[in-house]
Formats: sequence, structure tokens, C-alpha cells
Amino acid sequence: MNKLFILLILAIVACSPKVVTFSNSDVERASAKFPGSTLATLTEGHNLCKKYCVSCHPYTAPSARNEAKWNKILPKMVVNVNKKAHKQVINSLQEASILAYLVTMTNAQKK
Ligand code: HEC
Repeated sequence: MNKLFILLILAIVACSPKVVTFSNSDVERASAKFPGSTLATLTEGHNLCKKYCVSCHPYTAPSARNEAKWNKILPKMVVNVNKKAHKQVINSLQEASILAYLVTMTNAQKK
């Protein structure tokens, strides 16, 4: 096989987003605080962060801030994302998914 082809495959594998799986207890904690949360909404929140929260600064892991901080920071950052795109790319429902993801996962790390 051609070396270039192998490199190309490696690059694709290395750059594809990691699949994060959430446990049942993540979903339980999420839905206790954010009614309506499911595996799908947690995954959506995570994917939106990976997609939109990396264009100005490196990805910030949920555990980097506590719940109170995320509540304050996220609305400002969603404004940043939409301003940069010159249109609304994150709506309020999606913002809610992101917040649920960040808060659920930062609370998971502190037991
Ligand atoms: C248009 C550029 C831009 C985008 C997009 C953006 N940010 Fe930021 N972010 C900034 C700037 C500038 C700062 C530092 C100034 C500040 O805190 O407002 C910052 C700071 C932060 C901080 C540290 C703030 C603190 O007070 O500790 C966090 C956490 C953060 N961003 C998360 C996010 C998340 C999550 C998203 C996606 C929803 C996001 N950012 C998208 C520009 C951006």
C-alpha cells in the first residue's frame, strides 16, 4: 500500500472527534437537574462544544469550571459563538443542552 494513503487514513482517524459515551448515572444526574435530558441531549451538548467552543481558545473541559461558573460563563460564550458566525448557530435549546452537559459532567468529577 502507498505510504501516503496510510498517512491519510491515520490523519482521518486522529482528527475525528472522540466518541464520548455517557453512563446511565450521567443521564440520571442530568435529568434530575435538567428535566428532559437524555443520552441524546448530553451527546448534543458535547458535540456542540467540540464544534463551536474551540475556534477562539482551546476546548475547555467541563471539569475546568464549577456549576456556578458555567452558569455565568456559558451565556456569554454562546453570544461569542453567534457573533463570530454572524448568525445564530446556537439557539436557546442547544444552549440548554450544552449547559446540561457541562454542569452534569463537572459535577461527576467531584464526588
Ligand atoms: C468568538 C470567540 C469565542 C468563542 C467562539 C468562545 N469563546 Fe470562550 N472565551 C473567549 C474570550 C475572548 C475569553 C476571555 C474573556 C472572557 O472571559 O470573556 C473566553 C473565555 C472563556 C472561558 C474562561 C472564562 C472565565 O471567566 O473563567 C471559558 C470557560 C470559555 N471561554 C468557554 C467557552 C465555551 C464553552 C464556548 C462555546 C459555547 C466558548 N468559550 C466559545 C472567546 C470565545
